Amino acid sequence: MKHTLGVCYYPEHWPEDIWEQDAARMVAAGLSWVRIGEFSWQRLEPVAGDLRWDWLDRAIDVLGQAGLKIILGTPTATPPRWMLDKHPDMLPVDAQGRPRNFGSRRHYCFSDLGYRDESRRITRLMAQRYGSNKHIAAWQTDNEYACHDTTRSYSDAARTGFRDWLAQKYQSPDALNRAWGNVFWSMDYDDWAQIDLPNLTVTEPNHPHVLDFARYSSDQVVAFNRVQVDEIRAHSDAPIIHNYMGRETSFDHWKVGADLDIASWDSYPIGFLSDRIEGSDDHKLMFLRQGDPDNQAFHHDLYRAVGRGRLWIMEQQPGPVNWAPYNPAPLPGMARLWAWEAFAHGAETVCYFRWRQAPFAQEQMHAGLLRPDSADAPALAEAQQVSQEINGLPDVGTAQAQVALVFDYESAWGWEAQPQGADFDMFRLAFSAYRALRRAGLNIDILPPDCADLSPYKLVLAPGIMHLSDPLRAALAAFKGIALIGPRTDTKTEHLSIPTPLGPDIDGLDVTVALTESLPPNAQVKLSGGGRFLHWFEHLEGGDTAHMTTKDGHPAIMGSDNLRYLAGWPDAATFDRIIGYHCDILDLETHSLPEGLRIRDTDTHRFVFNYAPHPQNWNGTEIPAAGVHWEPLA
Ligand code: GAL
Repeated sequence: MKHTLGVCYYPEHWPEDIWEQDAARMVAAGLSWVRIGEFSWQRLEPVAGDLRWDWLDRAIDVLGQAGLKIILGTPTATPPRWMLDKHPDMLPVDAQGRPRNFGSRRHYCFSDLGYRDESRRITRLMAQRYGSNKHIAAWQTDNEYACHDTTRSYSDAARTGFRDWLAQKYQSPDALNRAWGNVFWSMDYDDWAQIDLPNLTVTEPNHPHVLDFARYSSDQVVAFNRVQVDEIRAHSDAPIIHNYMGRETSFDHWKVGADLDIASWDSYPIGFLSDRIEGSDDHKLMFLRQGDPDNQAFHHDLYRAVGRGRLWIMEQQPGPVNWAPYNPAPLPGMARLWAWEAFAHGAETVCYFRWRQAPFAQEQMHAGLLRPDSADAPALAEAQQVSQEINGLPDVGTAQAQVALVFDYESAWGWEAQPQGADFDMFRLAFSAYRALRRAGLNIDILPPDCADLSPYKLVLAPGIMHLSDPLRAALAAFKGIALIGPRTDTKTEHLSIPTPLGPDIDGLDVTVALTESLPPNAQVKLSGGGRFLHWFEHLEGGDTAHMTTKDGHPAIMGSDNLRYLAGWPDAATFDRIIGYHCDILDLETHSLPEGLRIRDTDTHRFVFNYAPHPQNWNGTEIPAAGVHWEPLA
């Protein structure tokens, strides 16, 4: 496999007479893919039922004739205005009960079946027309499910759908009452029609009610996507892809991914650093123009797994974006570094977003590979450099990691419903574990919560997994390496209640979480031998060995040789110590990497990425700021 580059393009934004020149410049820059179509519904169907394919036919032809392969997006993230007249109830409703109106994008509720049919209809028409077009080499469904907080909608359609979903799941209101513990506060129901969505309650709604609504809402995303997949597959053999987001946990990506051929995600490293990554002010300043050194890698590893080995970057930041609180420009070299890092993590293709910066509308301040005046923007030359470098390094492969991290969306919803500590967040916890593994220079695989086989791995981390699935519970019991689970792992039932006997419940682990504490940001639990827990601390009991203890003698890590429970949330230095300690036992090679230097081994090469704004030394080689270095593996 040769890695490839592409770009996102909106022919409908530009006069038709420049398409050919644009296509030629894309090819000259070494791009081989172009993604089009995903917001074009109004131009395709200006009036309900009046289809105008002519311009898209020509655009596909011009781009295809130039030698570009096309990713065709279904346009369902932007229903035209007339759609609202046809389906007045299709707007999503926020948790305050207010409709989210027309005038931007994603103004649809996943539960609205009328809109779901419209989405089926336009997808079918597109697939019928272009399914056997030789230039269409891949499909994208919709655009960034969940973006702008759109997974959960508190609409009438959602209420009806949720009741039906609950009736199918629980069969009787009695069973639901028992599962949710509704005897508490006299919350019992005796009819499905009495059950509302878990918003606008006087104080917090019951946690399993919130969790089930999160499950229901995620299922609607899966169902919405599946409708499109079925339509496309009926007419096309090209792979079907969705472009996921960074740090988005509101729907189960494992489930959406199971219906697709490739997982892709949209990587905006600098936007994310300012918008959705925890870090000190110093950290954010140091990586202001590069992005967090672990955030891209985490998502590459996560989505590579969601795509069952097939990963793309559908949108790669090329310059300043428009949507973060502050939008600095990347350091020269970053548009190249980000692409190589994606390739080193198994990406087949990296598409930059977007071709030409639009001088109009919401994203006019968002950079492209070209400026609004069509002059080259800085990232174009970097993309070109990458395309030339790819020719010298045709396939680096994706190495099997020896270390794995389990990541579970349901747990994210469970802890969101019941954080117990104001700063407890599933992504944050998993990412802090991932960061520690990366600082040790390890390759990491991310695993789904129903993973049944851990045998390829030596070290497995499963922090914060609310309730273990049967396959994972069995795989942990049989594991021959070291599994470090906790904090909070297997401490709840699937209904978010406390199990009795208390968890965790894994054969071979004699540890029980007897008491749980959450801690404000300025409090800590000190460990003997150095280090500390922040945010969270569990008091453990049981017959197993305490491998580490707190200063006042509580177990900090407790378990058998193979199965260990981590009782708190270690700060970064403590996590480093814990990872180092276990890697020593397992004889896993680690590195002590300076801040901002990261490595990733592929089948053939070791890649070294310098995210720091200054040069750094790797085994005698000086790597410039924003530089990439690779060397063949011995
Ligand atoms: C993504 C989205 C694109 C564009 C981009 C801007 O979230 O998929 O359509 O809005 O962000 O950075």
